[in-house]
Amino acid sequence: MPDRSARDRDRHALRHRVPSAPSLLVTLDASRDHPLHHQVYADIRDAILSGRIAARSQLPSTRLLASELRISRTTVSLAFDQLRAEGFLEARERGGTFVAATIPDRVLSSGRHPPSRTSARPQPPARSRAASSVPKPSRRGAALASLTTPALSFSGREPRAFRTGVPALEVFPHSVWGQIAARLWRRAPRALLAYGVPNGYEPLRRAIADYLEVSRGARCTSEQVIIVGGSQEALYLAAQLLIEPGDTAWIENPGYPGARNALSAAGARLVGVPLDGEGLDLAHGLRVAPNARIAYITPSHQYPLGVTMTVGRRLALLEWARDAGAWILEDDYDSEFRYTSRPLPSLQGLDAEAGDRDTRVIYIGSFSKTLFPSLRIGFLVVPSALVDAFAAARAVIDRQSPTVDQAVLAEFIDQGHFLRHLRRMRALYAERQDALLRGIRDGPLVEHIDTGPSDAGMHLVGWLRHHRDDARASTRGLEVGIEAQPLSAMTLGPVSRGALLLGYAAFAPSTLVRASEKLGIALQALPGQGSVSSRERRIAHSSHHT
Ligand SMILES: Cc1ncc(COP(=O)(O)O)c(C=O)c1O
Repeated sequence: MPDRSARDRDRHALRHRVPSAPSLLVTLDASRDHPLHHQVYADIRDAILSGRIAARSQLPSTRLLASELRISRTTVSLAFDQLRAEGFLEARERGGTFVAATIPDRVLSSGRHPPSRTSARPQPPARSRAASSVPKPSRRGAALASLTTPALSFSGREPRAFRTGVPALEVFPHSVWGQIAARLWRRAPRALLAYGVPNGYEPLRRAIADYLEVSRGARCTSEQVIIVGGSQEALYLAAQLLIEPGDTAWIENPGYPGARNALSAAGARLVGVPLDGEGLDLAHGLRVAPNARIAYITPSHQYPLGVTMTVGRRLALLEWARDAGAWILEDDYDSEFRYTSRPLPSLQGLDAEAGDRDTRVIYIGSFSKTLFPSLRIGFLVVPSALVDAFAAARAVIDRQSPTVDQAVLAEFIDQGHFLRHLRRMRALYAERQDALLRGIRDGPLVEHIDTGPSDAGMHLVGWLRHHRDDARASTRGLEVGIEAQPLSAMTLGPVSRGALLLGYAAFAPSTLVRASEKLGIALQALPGQGSVSSRERRIAHSSHHT
């Protein structure tokens, strides 16, 4: 406890120098998550910014404040230290703590400073502040913020059947990954800790170029590989660099919302191009928008329908791109998971093979499906002439990907762990897909859906037989704990036949069987909207015009 004389001195200082008693200045609430020293800090900071304590006025001593608030002096000292470090308070040589003289008067009580988020006693906004200072993004910002990513609402929550796009995280070889990381950290070469080049860590670029050549038939040097924070950043960068606002972009319809958003953000006019049994319906695209500047496609395994683009269609698409001077964004997000045959080589390789000129294809890959999505490492393969532009733009956005993660990944690939993991995943996913197909065939779901192609990927498309409104069917699923995204969330415009996406990669066979039974029962209880005709079913099977 402070001694009596010191206390009297402090009381005097308080009466004469600070307009309110310490207990009015600071209100503590032990039930709040924030530590007490932070509450003291936040309240004094707010009092200064709102003008309740004037610049240059003296604060009570830590001893008095501690005694009045019935807390330890160390707690108050911690708060004062923080306020001094931030320049709100200053200590004078002859003793005492004062509100800094350097805080400009126009900041104080101007209303421009909102009370601290962590303040124990939030202040009501001043009248003058109310309407005028509501923060608003720019028009471009508002347009960006209005773009919706359907899968985002599930992010951060434990996946439930049939969430799509989540790999089997439980079998990721984290101990191997950890050993490589530990070895790197023991050596910790300076090059891993300093700024790196925006293109990406060279050994990783080399490992990716080698992998793409052998496994994806791509034709590129490591200089053409740009490491980015996942496919999403690759799409954003490509759209920003290659299209003018107002340019037309073909997108698969239905298609990947992430690509749609990236193109929209760059100001593209989106034209949905439907799919048929051979992939993108090129004739449709040529009819409605022959002068498109860019086409986004997933030729190895169309997202979400699962069609593989035939070689004939690929060659025709490349010819169109060359003639029209258009770009092709080839998103090769999950071609590794093919169960019946080897994947077709990439479009990038096919185009690069066809002549001595640079390709029109921008190839995009990601480790989100093959390893784990939070790694946030993806890559682009770009024509040589565009490498510098992509690297410069990448540096503007977020400079580079974390080098240590890139170095761990490079060793993981070089030491053969990546290919081993892929082989294991392929076998596991084939098993899981089998279980899902069995669960559908042997349970009540068989009455409600027809499944789409099953030769590749991490999900199946379940075409609804009796419910046109797939959003309603999806909501019904959610009510019984089943996550099955509706196809209509992936389309521009309405769908003629609804479908649910049934992801299986992240779930054990028994979970998949139980979940298909649950979904079947749930759909039984949902009033039908008239059966889909056999003609509509044929159309949905052989072609996918929505
Ligand atoms: C078509 C498609 N492309 C790319 C990705 C991967 O995106 P990212 O690398 O940004 O995680 C996904 C993931 O769901 C996808 O469905």
